[in-house]
Amino acid sequence: MFTWLINAKPIHMKSLTGLALILLLFVACSQNPASLKETSLNHKADSVLKLMTLQEKIGQMVLYTSDWDVTGPTIRSSYLDDIKKGNCGNIFNAHTVSYVRTLQEAAVKESRLGIPLLFGYDVIHGYKTIFPISLGEACSWDMAAIEKSARVSAIEASASGLNWTFAPMVDISVEPRWGRVSEGAGEDPFLGSCIARARVKGFQGTNLSDTSTILACVKHFAAYGAPLAGRDYNTVDMSKRVFLDTYFPPYKAAIEAGAGSVMTSFNELDGVPSTGNKYLLTELLRKEMGFKGFVVTDYTSINEMVNHGIVANEEEAGALALNAGVDMDMQGEIYFKYLAKQVKSGIVKEKQIDDAVRRILRVKFELGLFDDPYKYCNEAREKAEVYSKENLDAALDVAKRSLVLLKNDNETLPLRKGEKIAVIGELAASKRDLLGSWIAAGKWENIPSLLDAMKAYQPDILYAEGCKKMGDDKTGFAEALRTAAKADKIVLVIGESCDWCGEASSRSNIQVPGVQTDLLAELKKLGKPVVVVLMNGRPLDLSREEVLADAMLETWFAGSMGGQAITQVLFGEYNPSAKLTMSFPRNLGQVPIYYYEKNTGRPIYLPNDKYKSKYIDVPNDPLFPFGFGLSYTTFEYSNLKLSNTVLNKNGNLKATVQVKNTGKVPGEEVVQLYVRDLVGSVTRPVKELKGFTKLSLNPDETKTVEFTVTSDMLAFHRLDMSYGTEPGEFLLFVGGNSRDVLQKGFQLN
Ligand code: NOJ
Repeated sequence: MFTWLINAKPIHMKSLTGLALILLLFVACSQNPASLKETSLNHKADSVLKLMTLQEKIGQMVLYTSDWDVTGPTIRSSYLDDIKKGNCGNIFNAHTVSYVRTLQEAAVKESRLGIPLLFGYDVIHGYKTIFPISLGEACSWDMAAIEKSARVSAIEASASGLNWTFAPMVDISVEPRWGRVSEGAGEDPFLGSCIARARVKGFQGTNLSDTSTILACVKHFAAYGAPLAGRDYNTVDMSKRVFLDTYFPPYKAAIEAGAGSVMTSFNELDGVPSTGNKYLLTELLRKEMGFKGFVVTDYTSINEMVNHGIVANEEEAGALALNAGVDMDMQGEIYFKYLAKQVKSGIVKEKQIDDAVRRILRVKFELGLFDDPYKYCNEAREKAEVYSKENLDAALDVAKRSLVLLKNDNETLPLRKGEKIAVIGELAASKRDLLGSWIAAGKWENIPSLLDAMKAYQPDILYAEGCKKMGDDKTGFAEALRTAAKADKIVLVIGESCDWCGEASSRSNIQVPGVQTDLLAELKKLGKPVVVVLMNGRPLDLSREEVLADAMLETWFAGSMGGQAITQVLFGEYNPSAKLTMSFPRNLGQVPIYYYEKNTGRPIYLPNDKYKSKYIDVPNDPLFPFGFGLSYTTFEYSNLKLSNTVLNKNGNLKATVQVKNTGKVPGEEVVQLYVRDLVGSVTRPVKELKGFTKLSLNPDETKTVEFTVTSDMLAFHRLDMSYGTEPGEFLLFVGGNSRDVLQKGFQLN
């Protein structure tokens, strides 16, 4: 456990006395392994801290971007100089072994104390091997696949010099206008929590000092997914109860899974920007949750508190952020400019700075950077592990699992051998769009487009562009119609441009853009079956397309292997099994729409009732509900049984259901468990997901699925804001989506 002391020569730690060692050993022997680790990390960090000047401490609280990739203004071009002077302890947007080594050498060899740098990057759904966008991956409901995607991303990123990813993004959202829904797991807190855990585990593994793991950063804390009107960076306003019951769980799950850093969000919550929000960063995160890692801001979000109007100037913004609990300033230059002065004037205390620096140094020790600052800088490893065949195979597997079959009338899909297929649409031939947003080191130039992959599978495929994904030019329609007229089936690939999802990509209209759907209407007139393949990063209003298409496959932006994955599904080499994790509305007027709504005082019982909570021009329910997705086979649910009709506080009850494959091909089904608490001290949602499992079934095969329900699964924030259950009547539902379910009642004592 003391090896770091020996290796720590560059930072002159010989001052530790024999007495201190004995004391440390004594303390160590009387502690459990977790607190032993804590003590040891604190001790190591403090040994460094005491050698540091105030300015060097502040340097550790600074994160600057390199000039490689930026998502905001580059206000600091002298980062190399800053590193050498000890004024910058962390860098983002710098990757590849050679570049990371250059910068790390500047820190280790040229700064006074030689403290190694953290290297962060947005490795969101892959480093160079790009997996489907996170929302797509979530639709797999497959925790092993999602963990594997994060694992591969960590292996590649760490092989390219990185030790920190700005992921997972765990913001719950019911706002398809918001472009960043593409980066999250969807609308549900329970599923979102499972996915948050899987992603943290994938990035960090079981040992942060392993060279193939990287530090995770849970973001964006908090409630960034609920901007009013779906406009990015906009105000968030929700009750504390909604925040704690719905939006908070995935952050909590990620932190409990060990995520070592947290990023603040750009938005305000209840009138206070997250970056200056002491309730969020200190009360909830540190005190209630016991979070021991460090908190970094989002890009210049300390500075932005001036625009928010919570402080008069940047200097005040810095003090507010530090007092709230922010340890590291991303790109804002505020800590760098003002903290030393503020310590001197007594506005902030040096102890606060020490606490923040300790939290950052602890992570650097945990990563093993003090033992070997170049541990992620191995060219041979980079060459062997980045974009390997094995990683691409993993991306193909996850991509197949993320494709959601939304409609399939008359078994239009799968396409059959010998059928003449016409592929239409600009997106069919696009390579760049397949990768989605946040593509890190991803390269699209050499990946196969969907059209390339389909042609590799069946060379006589016909193609015409028809129209662009944007714009109103219909001059290509005629050629598309001529091409389609020669085919037995038409595959029309439509959707959004990849840069219409992700940050700063809110839309006020969530229909398929341009004239793509007009083209669909024209093609439909040919009287041939039309398969619509969708590429997009958010739930869209597909009402028109749903009427016109015979089959629809939602493919999101499916990554480096997206072309092959979609091809395999279209031709039936893989039977789709994914299920939506966000409701798809019938039109924008229904937004926000989500399955865990409240019953209201005026629910609809009869379609024509007036004075009920409903629209007069559209049904209340979504076009495609949460949890929905078809397969090339069919499943039948029967025999839902509960082991008991009473659940005692410390007991459990078993719910069993039989699921049968009633179709002709083997398939996988996501079996979902929901509950409803009928009466509460505060009103409760009409359904809440509490469990799920994925089954494989051969034709005619039946399996019995068993769920265990315990009372803690039924807890919520009660009227007095305490967290727990209330006795009473519950309904339990099981089904293949949130709408079509079997149900039974039980009583909680
Ligand atoms: C701003 C984004 O909001 C955040 O998600 C990202 O990690 C940072 N930029 C760094 O690129």
